[in-house]
Amino acid sequence: MAGISDVPFRSLALRHGAGLVVSEMVASGEMLNASPSARARAELGLDEARTSVQLAGREPGPMAEAARMLAGQGARIIDINMGCPAKKVTGGLAGAALMRDLDRALVLIEAVVGAVGVPVTLKMRLGWDGDCLNAAVLAARAEAAGVRMIVVHGRTRAQFYDGRADWSAVAAVRRAVGIPVIVNGDVADADGAREALARSGADGVMVGRAARGRPWVVGRIAAALRGETPAAEPEGAALRDAILEHYEAMLGFYGADLGLRVARKHLGWYLDRVEGGGALRARVLRMGDPRAVAVALGAVADLAPSLDAAA
Ligand SMILES: Cc1cc2nc3c(=O)[nH]c(=O)nc-3n(C[C@H](O)[C@H](O)[C@H](O)COP(=O)(O)O)c2cc1C
Repeated sequence: MAGISDVPFRSLALRHGAGLVVSEMVASGEMLNASPSARARAELGLDEARTSVQLAGREPGPMAEAARMLAGQGARIIDINMGCPAKKVTGGLAGAALMRDLDRALVLIEAVVGAVGVPVTLKMRLGWDGDCLNAAVLAARAEAAGVRMIVVHGRTRAQFYDGRADWSAVAAVRRAVGIPVIVNGDVADADGAREALARSGADGVMVGRAARGRPWVVGRIAAALRGETPAAEPEGAALRDAILEHYEAMLGFYGADLGLRVARKHLGWYLDRVEGGGALRARVLRMGDPRAVAVALGAVADLAPSLDAAA
């Protein structure tokens, strides 16, 4: 998730048991213009196992070149974005806009698959809108072109994030291909994951927004699906320690000043999940001193989890 699933966040999700994490979307053009510094490599976390790097773009040449560069720097999986609904992306005919032009989508897929030896996967929606539900067609063509896994967010582009994700609609994609299909959209807990899997027949689930302020949720869902007892949801002192660990990792990764700015949205999500966290949230998000924030976060140990966090 752009602006969310950075290296510190993905490291935590992996450590808590996520099977695979995906980088923030990288625009192929930006990738080519940036110098391949160690910093850029670190930002993508290419040395981290079980990490896929997502590329977005519309031109086959730059997409292939960016994929080649990423694979050369150690990316283990390249994911192509055909799901992003944002106007600044679809306006450039990238992201979900490619679902309106499958021939163009295929040229792009073939270029990336042909450029790298590592597996290429594809993220998509159900289609552009209710009149263009072509995810199964795109998936079958992508498989024939060499794509190794498909993730489907069960909404159309026209829906953005409105309504509920339609897990049953992903079944048509499951039937259309032999490669693994992952169902995505509105999965927030083990029961939701089981229902999404049952309705779609998919091979796995992908979790997005439910992991905001809960980087352990993916691992907990995975454990439950394996029939194991998930680790306890952190609360009290354990939650304080988890938040501080994430916070310190962000300061370390970005440096204290930028780290504090990046951390604020994550701290907001964490504090939204504790009963009585509102006052602390308001106070912490106004603070400009990174060390004072760490001290203030100590108070989380005395707050109870909200009902929402028990889900
Ligand atoms: C802030 C934000 C940023 C996102 N960025 C990306 C992205 O870069 N690439 C991508 O494939 N999906 C992105 N998504 C979509 C999610 O991966 C996911 O498909 C969608 O949120 C539905 O799943 P969820 O209900 O589990 O969140 C983003 C979603 C949000 C809310």
